[in-house]
Amino acid sequence: MTVTLRHALGRDLDALYRLEQVAFTGDRFSRRQLWHLLNRAHALTLVVEQRPPDGGPPRLLGYGTLLFRRGTRRARLYSFCVHPGARGSGLGRRLLETLEAEALARDAEVLGLEVRADNRVALGLYQRMGFRLERWLDDYYEDGCAGWQMAKPLRAEQGAAWAREG
Ligand SMILES: CC(C)(COP(=O)(O)OP(=O)(O)OC[C@H]1O[C@@H](n2cnc3c(N)ncnc32)[C@H](O)[C@@H]1OP(=O)(O)O)[C@@H](O)C(=O)NCCC(=O)NCCS
Repeated sequence: MTVTLRHALGRDLDALYRLEQVAFTGDRFSRRQLWHLLNRAHALTLVVEQRPPDGGPPRLLGYGTLLFRRGTRRARLYSFCVHPGARGSGLGRRLLETLEAEALARDAEVLGLEVRADNRVALGLYQRMGFRLERWLDDYYEDGCAGWQMAKPLRAEQGAAWAREG
């Protein structure tokens, strides 16, 4: 089974929408929002695609979207998920590492994100990958759950400076 990471295309919209439905339990993007992300100049989406060996249709196993803003070197991880049936096999980490490399290639120095305070798996992954807790976000999600804003320096020298600051 071949799994590849590639930039999302307009034709991925339906598959992305289906993935969004099964991967998240709330705060899901609508089709319209996903369309907007795919067609927005300051967003970059990577998909994890699985191609069955029998030549059957490819399946999307995950995706992640970065947002960039003019005038700041801070990119934002706006969405990130893996299909429930494909979790726990390293795809999430691989996708996130590739998104970090894409952010760096676009001259971002910091990658920020928000995560639900009760999302143990994602929080653990982010912390092990070098993201630090920055700010508590009260009542941040649509069900009232709080969140954490986290960030990671993408350049080695900056990481060392953050470590010195404690
Ligand atoms: C968070 C998510 C993307 C991780 O994807 P994944 O493919 O399962 O991730 P990986 O297999 O690379 O595992 C990442 C780490 O989490 C750990 N992990 C994975 N599933 C776990 C589980 N159910 N319980 C405990 N730890 C788990 C792995 O051991 C791994 O640890 P490591 O960093 O030491 O290697 C996935 O769980 C997901 O899509 N969740 C729903 C959407 C979501 O919460 N997105 C994040 C929004 S901020």
